[in-house]
Parts: sequence; C-alpha cells; structure tokens
Amino acid sequence: MTQTKKSIHGEWSSRLAFILAATGSAVGLGNIWKFPYIAGENGGGAFVIVYLLCILLIGLPIMMAETLIGRRGRQSPINTMSDLADEANADPKWHYVGWLGVISGFLILSYYSVVAGWGIAYVFKAFLGSFSDADGTAIKNTFSDLMSSPLQQIFWHSIFMLVTMLVVSRGVAGGLEKAVRFLMPGLFVILMLLVAYAMTTGSYQQGINFLFNPDFSKITGQAVLTAMGHAFFTLSLGIGAIMVYGSYLPNSISITRTSILIAGADTAVALLAGIAIFPIVFANNLEVAAGPGLIFQTLPIAFGNMTGGWLFGILFFVLLVFAALSSSISLIEPAVAWLVENKEVDRKKACVWAGLATWVVGLGTVFSFNVWSDFKIFDRSIFDLLDYLTANLLLPIGGFCVAVFAGWIMRPEDSEHELRSSKPIYYQVWWFLVRYVSPAAVFLVFLNVVGVL
Ligand code: TRP
Repeated sequence: MTQTKKSIHGEWSSRLAFILAATGSAVGLGNIWKFPYIAGENGGGAFVIVYLLCILLIGLPIMMAETLIGRRGRQSPINTMSDLADEANADPKWHYVGWLGVISGFLILSYYSVVAGWGIAYVFKAFLGSFSDADGTAIKNTFSDLMSSPLQQIFWHSIFMLVTMLVVSRGVAGGLEKAVRFLMPGLFVILMLLVAYAMTTGSYQQGINFLFNPDFSKITGQAVLTAMGHAFFTLSLGIGAIMVYGSYLPNSISITRTSILIAGADTAVALLAGIAIFPIVFANNLEVAAGPGLIFQTLPIAFGNMTGGWLFGILFFVLLVFAALSSSISLIEPAVAWLVENKEVDRKKACVWAGLATWVVGLGTVFSFNVWSDFKIFDRSIFDLLDYLTANLLLPIGGFCVAVFAGWIMRPEDSEHELRSSKPIYYQVWWFLVRYVSPAAVFLVFLNVVGVL
C-alpha cells in the first residue's frame, strides 16, 4: 500500500507556484552566461545537439525522478533519501546522495555568486553609460579591468551573497514566487530584442550556422562530458534542489507535465541567448572561444549601439542578476534545510554559517582571475577546477544515483503512484529511460573520459 506524506514546511500555493520556482531555479547564469561560452569553446553545432539529447534522455527523466522522490519524502534531501531507502528496505547509506548534493550546491554557489557579482557590476556600468558607442576593444578592456581587481569583485560577490542569504533566511516561497512571475517574461522579451539586434549585424546567418550546423569531427569525449554536465547544471539537477522543491509539491499535480514545461522553458532561454550572442561575436571579429567573459564582452556592444540601448542594458543586467538570485537560492537551500532539520539551529543562524562559508570559498574564484591566476591544480585555476569538479563530476554522479534509486531501488508501485496523473504510457517511457538509458549514458560518458572506452 503506498502512502503519501505532508511536508512540515508546507506546500506550494498552486501548480504555477512550483513551476515558477523550479523554472526560476533552472533559468540562470547557466543559460545566459555559461551555455554560450561552452558552446563557443566546444565548436558550436555538434555540441549543441549532444546537449539537447542529454536534456531529453538524461535531464528530463532525472528531473522527474528528483521531483517524485522529493514529493514522496517531503523533507530535506538527506532525510528524504534515508526515509525512502527505509521504505524500500534498502541500505540506509543512500542518504549519502543527499550529502553529496549539499556539498556540490555549496561549491557551485561559491563561484556562481562571483559571476553574479560581475552581473551587478555591469548593471552600474550600463547605468553610467560605459557601453555607449563603445567598440569591441573598449568593451573587452572594461571586462579585463574588472577581472584584474580583486577588491571590486569581492565587493560585488559580497553583495550577492548577502542578498541570497537574506532571501533564504525568510524561507524560499513568498517573495520568490512574485519575483519570478515578472522576471521570466521580462528576460524573454529582452532576449528577443537582442536577437532582433543580432539580425541587423550582418552576421546573423553565420551565428546561426555556428550554433546549429553540426560538425561532429569537433566532438571529443571531453566535449560530450561538458554537454552532459551542463544538462544537469542548467536543469538544477544532481544536488537535490529540485527534490527540495518537489517536497513542497501538492499530490494532485502532474510531475510529467510540469517537468516538460520547465525543461522546455530552460532550453528556450539558453538557445535564445546563443542566437543573440554569436552573430555579435562574428560581426565584431571576437573570439568564439573567449571563455567565461563571453557575454560580458559581446552583449554590451549591442547595448552600446542599438536605440534605447542604455535602458535595455540596465534592464538586461538587472534581470540577469535576478535570474541568478532565483537559482542561487536553490543551490544553498538543501544545506540550510538540513541544518535546520538536524542541527537544531534556526533558519537565520543556518543562513549565516552557510553564507559565510560559501563567501570564503568564493574568494578562491575571485583570486583565480588575478592574484592567483598562475596557481594551477591539475592544470586548472581554482575557478576552472570548481566548475569542472561540480558540473562534470559531482552533478552527474548525484544524478546517476537518483536515477538508479528511482529506477531500481524504489518499488515500482511507489514511483507509479507518484506519476499516476500521467498517462500510463508516459510512466512506462519514463521508467525505461530512468532505469536503463540515463544511468547507462552517464556511465558510458565517464568511461569514455577516463579512456576505458
Ligand atoms: N540551473 C541554474 C543555472 O542554470 C544553476 C543552479 C541552480 C543549479 N540550482 C542548481 C545547478 C542546482 C545545479 C544544481 O544557472
């Protein structure tokens, strides 16, 4: 007999509230900052196709798995995993998956906050008119100036961390729901404007070709790993963030439908960002493989040259920072929820400690762009290492465990019960993907990268 629990933290007010919060978590720097630059570094078209396949075959099924596990357990990921393991008579060690998530989220937020800080800095630069009529070189210099200043970056990073922890300390639901409601449509409109600008650059077709014409000879095992890692990153999977959000989801809501909606919106935003950026890159003879500075070196050119660019520039960076904020909240929420449930601290104290620790680790990322730029571990700067370790390793491992848990450990009648409002055929497709396809795909990509395959 399957039973359903209620969360002690309450429930979302509606289906829309969950969709907004989960979309807010998914859509963030990953879509607008990271996707374009890794697509650029990995040769475009073929990478994009691999990424889309990963979203469909790995990301979507695992997103559904995380949501249903969360809704069934109705607690922080660590306690949910141990309860559900208990329910399935499985090894209690499954709760280590929750632990892994807490650590990954914390590490991601440490650098995510620094990049979001660059976004805040750019709100002010846009406001002060730093982009008006500027050419590619001037815009590039603006970015390098910011990179070479640890103090400025620490300042913006601190502000972003402070705001994140303030919001988290008040509980995730309330303000967030409202913010995302106008944020997503706003972001969408400005991205469309940027795409319209991209069409006037004369290099639109070249940008589109780069993004959608696959040249599979450019694809390496590392590129496939990056694409797969990014599918986890962009959908906020592998750390239990969606599990936490799922734990507040009312039982009547269809997990299949909401997951498809969220993944669809997330993918649309990433592709739009790419379509806006690459024509600008080609029109201004910039480097497609410019790396983490790509959007900061391209989009200001558009704002500097289009009508109304001053206002749109400010709006764009404000929206980017808000999108980052609605994501950063979900990166630290698993840690905070666990501290509150297990360590007998109140939510405020939990936020102070988690926030301070994240802030300190974030300094490593700040310094990796200036004073410590020569310091390399495994040939990578601290920022690169954190990014690689989390997106390409920890998230896929976390996601793999979630897939195996949902597909092999949970009793099928329990997972079926959670997905009952979908048509049976959807359940069967999901079960096949989560049981065989997703875990096998992650495993094969890993084998390939370590050179076994
Ligand atoms: N998905 C967010 C982005 O694309 C980042 C993010 C938020 C995330 N929560 C997460 C990534 C949880 C992995 C896990 O910007």
